[in-house]
Amino acid sequence: MSSLPIVQLRAVGKSYGAQRVLKGIDLSVMRGEIVSLIGPSGSGKTTALRCMNFLEAYDEGEVWIKGQLLGYRSKGRTPRDRDSERSIAEVRRPVSMVFQQFNLWPHMSVLGNVAAPLVLSKKASKADAHRSALAALERVGLAQKADAYPATLSGGQQQRVGIARALAIEPEVMLLDEPTSALDPELVEEVLSVIRSLAQDGMTMVMVTHEMSFAAKISNHVVFMEAGQIVEAGPPEQLFGNTRTPRLQQFLKPWFDRSLSPAAPLQSGGAQ
Ligand SMILES: Nc1ncnc2c1ncn2[C@@H]1O[C@H](COP(=O)(O)OP(=O)(O)O)[C@@H](O)[C@H]1O
Ligand SMILES: [Mg+2]
Repeated sequence: MSSLPIVQLRAVGKSYGAQRVLKGIDLSVMRGEIVSLIGPSGSGKTTALRCMNFLEAYDEGEVWIKGQLLGYRSKGRTPRDRDSERSIAEVRRPVSMVFQQFNLWPHMSVLGNVAAPLVLSKKASKADAHRSALAALERVGLAQKADAYPATLSGGQQQRVGIARALAIEPEVMLLDEPTSALDPELVEEVLSVIRSLAQDGMTMVMVTHEMSFAAKISNHVVFMEAGQIVEAGPPEQLFGNTRTPRLQQFLKPWFDRSLSPAAPLQSGGAQ
């Protein structure tokens, strides 16, 4: 068992024009860990997540995937040489992503959507890709929808297809960007339940979420971001139960005010 992090960010920075939206993010994700990123809108959570698989090119610091530098040929500040697309694909291979807006292709069947990354990578024959895709759909309870088109599914089902697509490549770590925030409230639970079952199977995950009770129960580590920086990070018992920074206390206050009992989310502990 290696003690190398699956994903490690070292002083990662990112600017859009003159706006520096990530200001030196440090984060290590070990195998089997579930890390939740919380924070106000615009704090840089999505950007941080997208830098973890180089969907977004960071421009300061380093992202390491299983000990390999992602995106660039060398450490240091950009401008530096971007790695070849082939090397980037190779280094990010263990990482998969679940998007807030599902990002399914409307003209493809559910099975086609889930198989697409496998077919496109040309690592599998079409028959093998379809077999893996069907197994992933079974994992999220949607094998019976394989031939349906995304538009005929509920939002919750579409996001479960999104999760199946991320699972089909057999990732070692999954990145989830607010996987339930585009859903009607009554559809949230079916998606959280799939994520909970992945957690029980030991899947490593980094998840941006506004579902505080869920984050409190499921996470090993919680990171609170604001204005491109990590303000507070630690175990959920600290962040939700023994908050250290006034800024996080202020951020969590509406959630505590809504909860009947502030301690309730932590009582059951662990992922279940
Ligand atoms: N493609 C982009 N171009 C310019 N600015 C962007 C882009 N994506 C995000 N931003 C800006 O970066 C900041 C962080 O955004 P984001 O990472 O989406 O935050 P969060 O996910 O925490 O809401 C915001 O100010 C946002 O407007
Ligand atoms: Mg976001």
